[in-house]
Amino acid sequence: MSSSSSSASTNSMPAAPSLPNDLEAHWMPFTANRHFKKNPRMLVAAKGMHYTSHDGRQILDGTAGLWCVNAGHGHPKIVEAIRSQIGELEYAGAFQTGHPKSFQLAGMVANMAPEGLDYVFYTNSGSEAVDTALKIALAYHRVRGDASRTRFIGRERGYHGVGFGGISVGGIVNNRKFYGPLLNGVDHLQATHNLGQNAYTRGQPAWGGHLADELERLVAFHDPSTIAAVIVEPVAGSTGVLLPPKGYLDRLREICTNHGILLIFDEVITGFGRLGSSFGAEHFDVTPDLMTIAKGLTSGYVPMGGVIAKSEIYDAFMSGPENAIELFHGYTYSGHPLAAAAGIATLQVYEEEGLFQRAAELSAYWEDAVHALKGLPHIIDLRNIGLIAGIELEPIVGKPGARGFDLFLRCYERGILVRSTGDIVALSPPLIIEKKQIDELFAILAEEIKKTE
Ligand SMILES: Cc1ncc(COP(=O)(O)O)c(C=O)c1O
Repeated sequence: MSSSSSSASTNSMPAAPSLPNDLEAHWMPFTANRHFKKNPRMLVAAKGMHYTSHDGRQILDGTAGLWCVNAGHGHPKIVEAIRSQIGELEYAGAFQTGHPKSFQLAGMVANMAPEGLDYVFYTNSGSEAVDTALKIALAYHRVRGDASRTRFIGRERGYHGVGFGGISVGGIVNNRKFYGPLLNGVDHLQATHNLGQNAYTRGQPAWGGHLADELERLVAFHDPSTIAAVIVEPVAGSTGVLLPPKGYLDRLREICTNHGILLIFDEVITGFGRLGSSFGAEHFDVTPDLMTIAKGLTSGYVPMGGVIAKSEIYDAFMSGPENAIELFHGYTYSGHPLAAAAGIATLQVYEEEGLFQRAAELSAYWEDAVHALKGLPHIIDLRNIGLIAGIELEPIVGKPGARGFDLFLRCYERGILVRSTGDIVALSPPLIIEKKQIDELFAILAEEIKKTE
């Protein structure tokens, strides 16, 4: 590509040496590319709770990167584990050969997971974890001679990454509408979000548990013998922080069990301390059959995801000749040595520093900080759980998302990183956040909300 094609191209940029001269070639994901390339927000270093921007400012990280850097930035133990791994073994083939650290990490993850969820299949991302879980569910029924179970049930507003499986069971219109007919045989529960009933609830809403009964209706409509699995996020994050009403997840579990349907929890953001517990399953005391994980597994230092499966599911595949491959699925980088080393060190950091406990203890202070925003202009709901907040703003008529994006930009200029998803601002800081940093985050946010048009 010729450099003349770039609007950001200059021969030299002495004032900001960390900004590349030409930003054009990178087609950025889930980003307003033209806007960004005119006004780049480049993060060039990070330590603890802060990023350093290309113009030398400290930015308080209110979002743990993208819900992933739970251990905080630049943790010396995790950095050292990755550094030492790259010098020892950079890659080992993932099919028919292995390396010790992926096994060690799988044991640690299985120990942390709810009882009975004992097997870890590695992927490189949450999206791959979701597609893997869906494939395992289909194949599980088939190897047991129940091959008519091919349907999935997801939920409106669900976010399960961007693979074809994930967008099919997901329920975010913009993520689906461009991509054709998607997977066959998918149906959706309605979203549980209801401002009329639940606005300004602290923690889990009391209203809405009955919405799980809709699963009974869908199951009856399709016939249970056609349904492979139901997939939901215990707490929906990327779609704007939607909490499960009390009793809702228990009821989904009950209906799935009654009809021989697998329940998949997508724990890509709820795993690894975000709710003040190991997983959403533990937090809500509901055990799924399959769990997807990513993000906090390595604190985002190296990409890695996975599926944790119940023993019965793994065991169902372990028949036939011992020298035959049992599951025709996997990725070149499944269980990559750098990711495995990062994962081991990350889980050790969580334990040694008691970070899940810390998140649980901070959550009341966090909740008060979130709900202190009540009454500020344009706010129509405030939601919280663990170290997550959702701040819903009323959309500008005819310009959905504009108010949220504008607030995100102004917060960035003021030195705090928040995430806007439409007109909902989502917060999910590293679990190492201090009370004074919570104060700073919400003070700046409040000032900027007051100035919002
Ligand atoms: C619940 C959930 N599932 C899946 C994903 C996709 O993960 P990734 O972006 O690593 O593919 C995300 C990402 O935010 C998520 O929140």
